[in-house]
Amino acid sequence: MKATAVAHPNIALIKYWGKRDEERILPANGSLSMTLDGLCATTTVEFGARSEDSAQLDGRRMEGGGLSRIVKVLDLVRVKAGIDARARVVSKTNFPKATGLASSSAGGAAIAMAASRAAGLDLDPRELSILARRGSGSACRSVMGGFCEWLPGKAEDGSDSFATQVAPPEHWPELRMVAIVCEDEPKRVSSTEGMRRTAATSPYFEAWTRTADSDLESAREALLRRDLGALGAIAERNSWRMHAAALAADPPLCYLKPRTLEIIELIEGLRAGGLQLFFTLDAGANPVLLCLASAVPRVEMRLGSFGADLKAVAACPGSGVQAIDRHLF
Ligand code: PMV
Repeated sequence: MKATAVAHPNIALIKYWGKRDEERILPANGSLSMTLDGLCATTTVEFGARSEDSAQLDGRRMEGGGLSRIVKVLDLVRVKAGIDARARVVSKTNFPKATGLASSSAGGAAIAMAASRAAGLDLDPRELSILARRGSGSACRSVMGGFCEWLPGKAEDGSDSFATQVAPPEHWPELRMVAIVCEDEPKRVSSTEGMRRTAATSPYFEAWTRTADSDLESAREALLRRDLGALGAIAERNSWRMHAAALAADPPLCYLKPRTLEIIELIEGLRAGGLQLFFTLDAGANPVLLCLASAVPRVEMRLGSFGADLKAVAACPGSGVQAIDRHLF
């Protein structure tokens, strides 16, 4: 009863920010993302005769919130498979340290596949996406590769809230996301708490969800016609609106740092000079750039002026979660 899966993180072009159901992790709005090649999380799950579930991530024993999210996925798998055995979970990422990249999206998709297979289940992509969602919302979009949309759904039980593939990686192989690591301090307020606070106290939350839905429509169309100028502009606008809603929460949530704004100014300067270059910002200080492969060397050269401690990781559209035979233990 052992299985291993590999998954890649995804970065949202249209953000998920706010839940309509905390327990089932159902979003207030739809979102759209690109799954990133190169970076990956590998997870092995084994069910067996042991007294409790345990999990290890990159050599460190997991506890607290991280462990409870894993146990939640394991519990759902146990119910579906009709088993009672406890699990050992070992996970490894190849992310450069503190990239601020959405590691929970890759980890959530990998554990959903590894745990369900280890329990003898053969879930289809939709069921897998629903399971991954229960570990971490954004993980439902890493089940599939390329460009994915998370349908918010309407059903109370969350059965219609899962991700579907809008386009495979081959749709736009020359598109790049460049994750910039300019700050390596962990964020002070988690996404879960940030969303909760924004939804409960920000007077702009209603406007955020309304505009996110229309942004999603236009972003999907721009993506399908490979229109980087339009897609980049919508993605930037959408991430500013998410941060604006968060800034207006009580107490306010500011994820940006001085260096975030310096990098944004650099991007705007390069764009004014004719380069097609855009950014998006998750709930953190590190921007992720959007451009074509041909622009990456110039962008990296200009980022060099920020000093040697700044890291840039470029990724093309990657594949969805996959089962592999090489177990971690
Ligand atoms: O899935 P979570 O709980 O890690 O939340 C992700 C939230 C954002 O990264 C800010 C947006 C998104 O859609 O990925």
